[in-house]
Amino acid sequence: MLEGQTKAIRRVEYTAPAFWIDTVDLTFDLDPTKTRVLNKMRVRRNPDVAAQSLRLDGEELNLARVMVNGGGTSFKIDGNQLVLENLPEGNDAFDLEIFTTCDPSKNTQLSGLYVSNDSFFTQCEAEGFRRITYFLDRPDVMASYTVTLRADAQKYPVLLSNGNLLEQGKLEDGRHFAKWIDPHKKPCYLFALVAGQLVAREQRIVSRSGREHLLQVFVRPGDLDKTEHAMNSLMASVAWDEARFGLPLDLERFMIVATSDFNMGAMENKGLNIFNTKFVLANPATATDNDFAGIESVVGHEYFHNWTGNRITCQDWFQLSLKEGLTVFRDQEFSQDMAGVQSARAVKRIEDVRVLRTVQFPEDAGPMAHPVRPDSYVEINNFYTVTIYEKGAEVVRMMQTLVSAPGDEDGKQGFAKGMKLYFERHDGQAVTCDDFAQAISDANPGSPLAQLLPQFKRWYSQAGTPRVLAEGAYNSDNKSFTLTLSQSCAPTPDQAIKEPFVIPVSVGLLNASGTPMAVRLQGDTQGQAHPEFSKTLVLSESTQTFVFENIESVPTPSLLRNFTAPVNLDCALTEEQWLTLLAHDTDSFNRWEAGQRLAVQAALRFIRGNHNPQTEPVLGADYLEAMKAVLNHPDLDSAFKELVLTLPSETYISEQLESVDPQQVHAVREAMKLQLAQSLQTEWQTCYTQNKVTGAYSPDAKSSGKRALSGMALSMLCLAAVHDGTSIWPGKALQAFKDAHNMTDRFNALVALVGSGHELAAQALAQFHALFKNEALVIDKWFGLQASTPDRGGNILPIVRQLMQHPDFNLRNPNRARSLIFSYCSANPGGFHRTDAAGYVYWSERVIELDAINPQVAARLARALDRWKKLAEPYRQAAKTAIERVAAKSDLSKDVREVVTRALAE
Ligand code: TRP
Ligand code: ZN
Repeated sequence: MLEGQTKAIRRVEYTAPAFWIDTVDLTFDLDPTKTRVLNKMRVRRNPDVAAQSLRLDGEELNLARVMVNGGGTSFKIDGNQLVLENLPEGNDAFDLEIFTTCDPSKNTQLSGLYVSNDSFFTQCEAEGFRRITYFLDRPDVMASYTVTLRADAQKYPVLLSNGNLLEQGKLEDGRHFAKWIDPHKKPCYLFALVAGQLVAREQRIVSRSGREHLLQVFVRPGDLDKTEHAMNSLMASVAWDEARFGLPLDLERFMIVATSDFNMGAMENKGLNIFNTKFVLANPATATDNDFAGIESVVGHEYFHNWTGNRITCQDWFQLSLKEGLTVFRDQEFSQDMAGVQSARAVKRIEDVRVLRTVQFPEDAGPMAHPVRPDSYVEINNFYTVTIYEKGAEVVRMMQTLVSAPGDEDGKQGFAKGMKLYFERHDGQAVTCDDFAQAISDANPGSPLAQLLPQFKRWYSQAGTPRVLAEGAYNSDNKSFTLTLSQSCAPTPDQAIKEPFVIPVSVGLLNASGTPMAVRLQGDTQGQAHPEFSKTLVLSESTQTFVFENIESVPTPSLLRNFTAPVNLDCALTEEQWLTLLAHDTDSFNRWEAGQRLAVQAALRFIRGNHNPQTEPVLGADYLEAMKAVLNHPDLDSAFKELVLTLPSETYISEQLESVDPQQVHAVREAMKLQLAQSLQTEWQTCYTQNKVTGAYSPDAKSSGKRALSGMALSMLCLAAVHDGTSIWPGKALQAFKDAHNMTDRFNALVALVGSGHELAAQALAQFHALFKNEALVIDKWFGLQASTPDRGGNILPIVRQLMQHPDFNLRNPNRARSLIFSYCSANPGGFHRTDAAGYVYWSERVIELDAINPQVAARLARALDRWKKLAEPYRQAAKTAIERVAAKSDLSKDVREVVTRALAE
């Protein structure tokens, strides 16, 4: 391993660049195996920094020529940097011209300039631009770009880059060109080009201000019939950002291009977003409701980056959450607003919290734990994490909660004022998380956020999920209820001691019959015209006590409503109290949460007591009755019912244990599922028939909720049938699979069959493949389903190994690799954690194999064993051995090296 390869970059070592690059004029002669790049820059010294040499980043480039002010110059190569020492003195700008070539056809990493399906694409975030040309590859260097693309006119009829098309025309030898100018300065990570045979859906829109814009969604010929939803989502995003934040589209033209080879979801390049096809292409026959929802949120996310990320960008990559946390917050709010009614908003909130708790909380408790604003990294690509994204979004949401005021209970107006100030102060700049928090705070003087700002910012600096312990005491003499909240946070790597966080805790109280009680705090001097039924407490010390007055009877507290803070809450309610909340809470989130608590408690009791799920029931009669009541409830949304009836995942249950036997957790959860299937058969049958959606497909919240619940019902009915040795429901599922009018219903029927283990599953799987053999995204589902199906006696790994040999499998395509390998290693704990260690062996082989092709993707797979220290034996030792096997390779990428090094650290 090379010394310099694993050197950590530290936040405190940030210094301003020694040079600025004001303009960049790029000319590309595109050729798959040898693309020529002429890079002409106007460069000047940064007068604020002491004179030093210019060090430009470059990677896998062939350098042909360097010129300064039109003449030759001396230079040297130092590792991956081009060093220029004899540059003009003084503060005047000079011309720097660099000519390089690169080989896009060999670029399997998909960072920089690469070829996918005979078209050219770029991916420059975080540090891919240096793979295209030598540059100051850092986000605080912002330049104006002019880009000329030249390529074969037949093979590459469409030539795109950021901004506006200035001119295009023919060249000799069957080549043609296009010249683009981006009117906005940008950091190089937002540069993009695309060239190839593409077609576009186009839409002209007029914004509120009366400006006209052209929206385009580019795809491969043949995919145009799958672009309507992406375009609708884009139009809705433009309208939403104007309406909610007063932020208009600042370009004449806004383009989205889809590619099937992409490391992540999508990329917000200025005016030229590049997307994974998974987040663009959808029609009712090929995409599920979840796919439609994913497209809406990712299209929104990338579009919202145009302001939060592009107009105001990050000073350095430690500030990544400045743009990502804020933009996730914005896309989550967008999706909630699109869902409409309160109950549908709650469904989206529950789904978001579920991701946070099942993926981010484990990250924050494991070897890769890092603050929302990290202090160091080896490879920045490893820090595009759920902590930066989802926890970062929660930090922004807490700010909104903490600027609420009378008449603006949710804080939306106060937060919008803060955003306005943020843009007034920083538009066009590269800034820090501190700058953002300061703007939100300054726009809301006197708010709890403003009062506690320095302490609040510990959410940016301290890693780990805080625990909040809530203890209530009712005093019948003076009719008061005392709530004591205490906080703590376990150590994380490099952070032994944690200072108290600022934690907003929304609270309501219910009486014994479930009716909301008015909440009034002792010492609350403001006479309220109307009684309040929810209150946001702010916990900022280690322990704090809150006294509620005029409480006529023992209350059941509903705490952390709508999940106002990303914490683990411990509160010792009785089973009866959880059931009261499940049946009556006015807060939908906590209603769902009560059901989850009851299920987790049942599972934990069973696992800790080492009971046998084959011989004893896990779930008690009260829980099953409560679930029955939920399914029969006349007013609850189908989507909400489906969420309540979905048991907490194996991962989530495991996180609550000190030492995990994944096979035991799997067996217990499977037993719980079977109990739900068997004891609620009548209800499932009713659900199945009553939630059929007829008529034209629409992905709206109401009908997708119905499809989700009917799909779950069908799965439950097939499961119960197989257990009873009957075939009526599997037969019906096969028929439903064949008759389905849309992919959601079809796939749900397939999932029901495959999940039940019934022999008809094989037939359905074969038919599914035959029907969709030309639809790559559907074939991904086909692989993914087989790899993530609940394991029965170790049957999944042989299937996965066999699927690796399938002609449609391709390790080089990230979507395909994820659909098979990640589905197995990260989404199927029962199949992956085998007592014979064969799952871990498979994992280590794939990490090593993938690392040679695509380090970014390999490093994500490497994280599948993050939580190995929590495993019981024999898993723990076997997992460690597997990680050591990877770590023993001498030529690992720094991406994978960083992950396995941290995993093995003491
Ligand atoms: N900025 C992108 C987003 O938030 C993330 C992204 C896309 C990315 N492609 C990447 C990050 C490649 C690192 C590497 O949507
Ligand atoms: Zn983003």
